[in-house]
Parts: sequence; structure tokens; C-alpha cells
Amino acid sequence: MSINILAIESSCDETSAAIISDGKVLSNSIFSQQVHEIYGGVVPELASRAHQKQIITIVDKAIEQSRTSKKDLDAIAFTCGPGLLGSLLVGVSFAKGFALAAGIPLISVNHMQAHILAHFIDEPKPSFPFLCLTVSGGHTQIVRINDYLDMEILGETRDDAVGEAFDKSAKMLGFPYPGGYLIDKYARGGDPYRFIFPKSDIPGLDYSFSGIKTAVLYFLRDQLKADEKFIKKNIHDLCASIQHTLIEMLFDKLILASEMTGITEIAIAGGVAANSLLREKISFKQKSGWKTYIPKLEYCTDNAAMIGIAGYFKYLRKNFSDLTVSPDARMQF
Ligand code: KG4
Ligand code: ZN
Repeated sequence: MSINILAIESSCDETSAAIISDGKVLSNSIFSQQVHEIYGGVVPELASRAHQKQIITIVDKAIEQSRTSKKDLDAIAFTCGPGLLGSLLVGVSFAKGFALAAGIPLISVNHMQAHILAHFIDEPKPSFPFLCLTVSGGHTQIVRINDYLDMEILGETRDDAVGEAFDKSAKMLGFPYPGGYLIDKYARGGDPYRFIFPKSDIPGLDYSFSGIKTAVLYFLRDQLKADEKFIKKNIHDLCASIQHTLIEMLFDKLILASEMTGITEIAIAGGVAANSLLREKISFKQKSGWKTYIPKLEYCTDNAAMIGIAGYFKYLRKNFSDLTVSPDARMQF
């Protein structure tokens, strides 16, 4: 008998549902909310309303694409946190209602753990212990993974997340939200050494990305005073230089973490793991002894398949939640 899990993700601006059977993804349906684009960032109230509107359609789609039916489900896994409280609440409430009606257990999942466990969806799978650079719009962490559900944060950002630094820089360059992938796109063919932005100098494995945001802001302000077409004329070099600085900062600490722990099994996860320069640099380290793990693009940005795989490992350990479970916007490991 297979173990079939329905998974729900609603922590930010993606409404997603997936069906996982014995750890294999049968479907992974994702609705990316466009409503925030004109505001330059996610508007929490609009996000929760959009989740509310989409969740039933997305769950139906995931069940239909998986060719299973509701009566085949053994559990329902959902993102409990971290994330936007109103958005999480939609997923948690839906999951509770579904579990109660179907008489199946509820499994609460930590979104950041799920980003990491996405590495266990496909081959090759990392061996324990491994390090994961988890980089998203809300987090920047270097995590040591001892086992599926035994993880420790070795370093993290003290202010902005790297995805936020990408998105805020993109906004200053005139791109819509979220502009991280547009910086990546326009960086192609640009000169990464044309403009120099300062890297933060924090000891140990922690990060800081607020300085570069301010540096980009003042730099652009000064240049635009002299030439109002400065951004347009230099867009490729600007994107390449900003991207190069942010990815180098990520990379320097990851190398340090590998040296400090002696671990050379290295993974990346989260939305910024879709960045082509980061993927290229990580792959290149294979030549100097790292064993590297880069998730498929569809499992980098937010998706319910990763919630399902995390739910599957919790199911095997009978790690269930009861109906009193609440969303936790600042959930820790
Ligand atoms: O993990 P994710 O989908 O959502 C959060 O949990 O935050 O990550 C979204 C972040 C955004 O900041 C977005 O701009 C960034 O991932 N992102 C990228 C790229 N694709 C997505 N940043 C740089 N390069 C990319 N190709
Ligand atoms: Zn995420």
C-alpha cells in the first residue's frame, strides 16, 4: 500500500498543492499571484485574499493531475511557518477542514526545512551530514543537515535576505516585483567588474545585505543626476555587477562554512537558488572536491512538492499535529 500525501503551500505569494506518493511527486500545481507586481512587493492582505480565492481550484487540479482521488489520501501536510500570517492561515484552515472531513492526520511543515528537503525528491540525493545554502526572498541561511528532520543553522542574515537585496536593487533599476530573475536575465553579457559595490564585512558565518542596497541607491542617485539615461545605457553592466557582488558574498561564507565543518557535500535551495551565476559557481566547485546538489528550477521557488516530501518524512515518524495547531509566522527549526 502506498502512502499518499496532499501537501499545501501558502506562506507567501504562491498558492500550491501537490500529491506525493511514497516520496514521489505525482503532481505539483502552482498559482503565482500577479496582483503584487505593481506594488513593488507582496501586499499581505492581497496575498491572503488571493490564496482564499485559489486554494480549492489548485487542490482539485493537483488531485486530478495525480490520477488519485480524495479517498486515497493518507495525510495532509501544510506549511505552518515561517511566512505571512494571513497567508499561512488560509492553508492551515483549509488543511484542518480537509483532515477533519477525510478523517486523516495533519502534518505541520516548516517552510525552510521543506526548501532543503526538496533535494530528496529526485536523484542524486545528498548524504548526511551536508550543508545547504538556503536563499529566498525572506531568508538567507547556511544550514547543517544531520538527518531529514535534524538541522542546525550555522549562519544567517542579520538584516535583509539576499532575495530582498535582489528585489530591491531590481526595483531601483525600474523592474517590476519580484525582479531577482530579471537581474539574472539582464546580467547576461554584462561586465560584472564595471561597477564595484562594497561587500559587508561581518565575521563568522552571518550575512548582511542592507549595506549593498544603500550603496546601489546612492550610486544610482549620483549617476542619474549627471545623466538621466544612466540606467538604460548601462543596464547589463549594472545587473551583472550587482549580481556578482551578491553571489560572491553568498559564496565566500559557504566556502568558509565548508572549511570550518570539513563538510564537502553542499546543496543550495530556495528561490535565489534559481540564479544562473550561483548555479554555475556551485557546479564549478565540483572540480575542487565538493559534491554539489542543485535543485530543479521548479523546486527552487515556492511549491507544495517540497512540503509534501517533508510531510512524507514526518509521516514515516508518525509526527502528526492535532486540530489545535496554529500558523507560526516566525517558526524556527
Ligand atoms: O523561495 P522563494 O520562492 O520565496 C520565499 O520563500 O521568499 O524565493 C523568492 C525569491 C525572490 O526574492 C526572487 O526575486 C528570488 O527568489 N529569485 C531570484 C531568481 N529567481 C527567483 N533571485 C535571483 N536570481 C534568480 N534567477
Ligand atoms: Zn520559500
